[in-house]
Amino acid sequence: MSGQALKTILIATTALAAFATAEAGELPTPLKDTDYLYDGAPDPALVELGRMLFFDPILSGNRNISCGTCHDPSRGTGDDLALSIGEGGEGFGADRRTGQAGVTGRVPRNAQPLYNIGARSYRSFFHDGRLEPDPDGVFKSGFWSPGREHLPEGLESLLAAQAMFPVLSPVEMAGQKGENSVATAVAEDRLSDAWDLLARRLSEIGAYRDLFRAAFGPGDISFVQAANALAAFQGVAFRSNGSPFERTLRDGDFARLSGDVWSGIDLFYGRAGCDDCHAGPLLTDHSFHAIAVPQTGPGKGHGSDTSYWRMSGFMDRLEDEGRFRVTFEKEDLFAFRTPSLLNVALTGPWGHSGAYDTLESVVRHHLQPESSLHEYDGTDLPKLDHVIEPTGQGSRLIFRPINPARRSAFDRRDTWIQSNDRLRNRIADASDLEAVDLSDREVAQLVAFLQSLTDPAMRERSDLVPLKVPSGLSPQPPPRRAP
Ligand code: HEC
Ligand code: HEC
Repeated sequence: MSGQALKTILIATTALAAFATAEAGELPTPLKDTDYLYDGAPDPALVELGRMLFFDPILSGNRNISCGTCHDPSRGTGDDLALSIGEGGEGFGADRRTGQAGVTGRVPRNAQPLYNIGARSYRSFFHDGRLEPDPDGVFKSGFWSPGREHLPEGLESLLAAQAMFPVLSPVEMAGQKGENSVATAVAEDRLSDAWDLLARRLSEIGAYRDLFRAAFGPGDISFVQAANALAAFQGVAFRSNGSPFERTLRDGDFARLSGDVWSGIDLFYGRAGCDDCHAGPLLTDHSFHAIAVPQTGPGKGHGSDTSYWRMSGFMDRLEDEGRFRVTFEKEDLFAFRTPSLLNVALTGPWGHSGAYDTLESVVRHHLQPESSLHEYDGTDLPKLDHVIEPTGQGSRLIFRPINPARRSAFDRRDTWIQSNDRLRNRIADASDLEAVDLSDREVAQLVAFLQSLTDPAMRERSDLVPLKVPSGLSPQPPPRRAP
């Protein structure tokens, strides 16, 4: 049903008169099968292979983390952490800590939710959109990406291209140079070798050979095939259109939503202007906006500021300039991709840096972005007990626990940007979000609307985690055992 038709019905519905009288914008039409990759029905053999790969730590250099560790289907497809602890960590969700082996640093951004990630409308992936289609054919892969000319051909979708990258990230999955051959290949910019090494690992496991044959027929196993399977799995597993809001848009049963939710809809599509950016069926315009969300943690290691470097001796730059690091256009400074809001109540902490740990606080941030940024007093980032750093040089790198003097400089990364007036002001100045004045009651109504975007079927999805994975390693997250 179109928004206009819905509104016409609403006008006739006296209980909803408040909504009908508002000058609300167009309500979206929920997505249908053909709006998803493979028209919503990929080959089950491809999906099953993707499911095994998604939860199998075999894809990480040190065989200690899977995609599912950070994208846990029962934790809103995230990890409940502001910033993930990647390879070298132990435990799950809010209990995740660094393991005995230690970590070299934080994952710089919040793990993105994967709901409806198989929708064809996605034009880019990652918070800064650094993976995009390449319609002009500059690269043979068909994608602009951090893999540049190394990215191979044969990737069936943008989502498949995305799956090529987590395995290359030293802090997420690959590990450090010298620890394993995949990490060493990455460190030496031999990306094709890194993917080939992982494909060889898979081809040495009989159960994977069977799964790849079922999905692709006979022939050599490639990491491109693995990526295509991961995309097929994510697309169907995390598809979600069952929230009360979407069901109401589909069947017109308006009584399902409470008066507060309707007032929230009224504000969202009206006076609060949320749909300027959170538009369409996924409540995102798939575009980039600077809205002054505070940076927590060490950032992406770029930007022009060298003050931390001078203070600490670590050759790091800490600002996360968002979309700017992809386009180098001034208007993209500190802009991040508008997130989809379907299931948003399940996906906290919120913001690209996980800065906000309640829905109310992230909504309030939108209402007064600049003062919210300046008044922000930090979040509890997960504690890093064991931090290691390389000593020695060349191929003879040895990782040792960081010494106490360097540790204190290391820890100052977490708050460096927020505690520096000049750097914080750069984020504030870039913001293009207009302040809006709402009462406490109205904020609660907006939050009630956001909660009506939760699909009850997505709250608990441990059924997706296989009891065993072909490598014989323990699936991550741990499966829920049959009673
Ligand atoms: C250590 C935690 C971690 C692991 C492991 C991990 N991810 Fe992620 N994922 C993230 C983070 C953090 C981001 C956002 C990164 C950024 O914007 O720079 C992300 C982004 C994504 C996105 C983009 C979503 C969007 O809306 O743009 C997809 C898809 C994804 N991950 C899938 C995967 C798959 C598939 C795997 C396994 C091959 C995987 N992830 C492994 C943390 C992780
Ligand atoms: C100018 C565009 C714009 C407008 C208008 C806007 N948002 Fe956002 N919203 C964003 C962007 C961009 C982000 C992500 C920012 C980041 O990660 O740094 C975001 C993040 C969010 C989040 C956190 C989602 C997540 O997964 O982390 C919520 C909730 C949200 N917005 C709700 C709202 C509400 C409610 C309104 C209306 C009061 C609104 N937004 C208006 C652009 C906008």
